[in-house]
Amino acid sequence: MKIAIANDHGGIELKKTLVAYFEEHEIAYVDFGVSSNESVDYPSYAKTVCQKVLADEDTLGILCCGTGIGMSIAANKVKGIRAAVVGDVFSAKATREHNHSNVLCLGERVTGPGLALLITETWLNATPLDGRHKNRVDQLEKK
Ligand code: RB5
Repeated sequence: MKIAIANDHGGIELKKTLVAYFEEHEIAYVDFGVSSNESVDYPSYAKTVCQKVLADEDTLGILCCGTGIGMSIAANKVKGIRAAVVGDVFSAKATREHNHSNVLCLGERVTGPGLALLITETWLNATPLDGRHKNRVDQLEKK
């Protein structure tokens, strides 16, 4: 498993926290920025990560902004992407298992670093479930 991660100016500190976690746990990642506080537009960063996720089925995406919402709206415009804004551990597990989410969106101004790490860990360790869940996800992709 590999991670493609990006953020806008509202998600820099959270991205740094996550990258430090990946380094510590030797999780492969590619950081698509940004690293300066200069104001940037989240849609292009979301698009870059989504393209990486679609190009490599072993890659999951993580997007950080102020709320996680802008990134998720942008990511979900890309066919084949199932992005979820997550602020609790139950949803982190459920969205990976039930929705087969392939992009996790987090809001630095909403979710503290400790919880965001636990959410990320839970999401990365959850397994997409087959059966009725896969059937529903297949229906999403037909649209
Ligand atoms: C940036 O100020 C903020 O709008 C952005 O990070 C994000 O929260 C948008 O959804």
